[in-house]
Amino acid sequence: MSEPSGTSPPGDPPPVGPTGRSAEYWARYRALAPKYFWAEETRSASIVVAGAEGSTLKDADGRTYIDLTSQWSTNNLGNVHPEVLRASVDALGRYGFLIYFLHPHLPMIELSEKLLEIRPSPNLTRVFLELSGTGAVEAAVKHAVQTSRRPLVLSFLGQYHGLSIGTGAIGSLSSEERRHWEPYHGGSVHAPYPAPYRRPAGMSETEFGESMLGYLEEQLLRYQAAPDRIAAAILEPVACEAGIWIPPKNFVRGLRRLCDAHGWYFIADEVETGLGRTGSMWAIDHFGVAPDLLTIGKGISGGLLPISAVLGDERSMGEEGVAAGTTFAGHPAACVAASTTIDILRRDRLPERSARLGAHALKRLQEWTAWEGIGDVRGLGLCLGVELVHNKDPRRPDPKTTRAVFFDCVAHGTLPLYNYGDNVLRVQPPLTIEEPLLDQALDTLGEALRRHLPKTAS
Ligand SMILES: Cc1ncc(COP(=O)(O)O)c(C=O)c1O
Repeated sequence: MSEPSGTSPPGDPPPVGPTGRSAEYWARYRALAPKYFWAEETRSASIVVAGAEGSTLKDADGRTYIDLTSQWSTNNLGNVHPEVLRASVDALGRYGFLIYFLHPHLPMIELSEKLLEIRPSPNLTRVFLELSGTGAVEAAVKHAVQTSRRPLVLSFLGQYHGLSIGTGAIGSLSSEERRHWEPYHGGSVHAPYPAPYRRPAGMSETEFGESMLGYLEEQLLRYQAAPDRIAAAILEPVACEAGIWIPPKNFVRGLRRLCDAHGWYFIADEVETGLGRTGSMWAIDHFGVAPDLLTIGKGISGGLLPISAVLGDERSMGEEGVAAGTTFAGHPAACVAASTTIDILRRDRLPERSARLGAHALKRLQEWTAWEGIGDVRGLGLCLGVELVHNKDPRRPDPKTTRAVFFDCVAHGTLPLYNYGDNVLRVQPPLTIEEPLLDQALDTLGEALRRHLPKTAS
């Protein structure tokens, strides 16, 4: 699951409530989990899913929706990819469940070798399997902290790494989400994420990158944490949950230099961006930087079974044992699903497809940039966002209109990726989405924007 941004009061009724059988199921769901913090927010979509296929979802009343979410970039091969399904079922029959710490099994060995074949840089030689993105981030940080003998992690505000106590501390949950958990949030120092859209007026992206690096050196290292107390810097190469923030190239390269200068590990958290999402196998490829640790999750198994992984270099993962892991990590069938997914990604050249379709989609979004109410459109591959603001002012987000546009899209059969309370609508469809379907979804999004943006839009 990903972060609900939660800036609006939960429980605002959706403008269009569930109807038909969906309404019945909603009532049953809410009776079971009325206080669960997603219950009201997911009602945003007002549908109950009764089937999923390819790039579409079907609701309990038989209506079809184009899925621009890939379930937070998990179902990157589309919903229920038949080859992954067949391979997973076969593996379940063959292996059932084995704990790989007790019994190394063929699927985990094959998957680990395959992951190294597609690694972003040759310094990554070791593989650790986990269950979730959260588990992968925690394992990466554990390896970094233990092997460096340093206590702190440098992270960036806006990043999301999970909701566990550990990843909650490393990421940047909202103050509300931190409520009750404040005492557990030590161990990290946070700097602002270099999100170019909010850079000072008149500053180029490169100058902005430089200034953010300057902040790290002149402020953070001076006043918050001495460099030799920091084990690692953790970066989302594209901060998806924050609203598709793409950092300046020189910032990422400069961060790599700081890591080298001070002996920090560079952890790239690619749980959401990895495996083709951004038009390259890894988002970090866009910056020409080699990470020391890489976290992988979500789309790794084609969305069929939970599994995640960490790739590490010899220093972080080759020299000493670190107590990390969980019972279901590296489940044999999930390993087979992941190996099959990697084969399909490579065979069907899906990262390249993501780049091509993403460039096409971005061009279409760019036609909207002049519209009143649109602050920015941006993207890398099939990882795109449309940011809504008042008066073209980056400091005046417009979550209200964003929400209205989202519901309008749902009513017209398209599901953009939208975090409750956010002012960014995201386009993260399966990398396999048919081009006409993508265009149809973008038509719907464009029409919904026209209906809700201030009238100067045309
Ligand atoms: C960058 C990143 N890291 C870690 C996580 C946590 O992954 P999971 O929800 O599978 O535990 C997420 C989930 O959205 C993520 O986007």
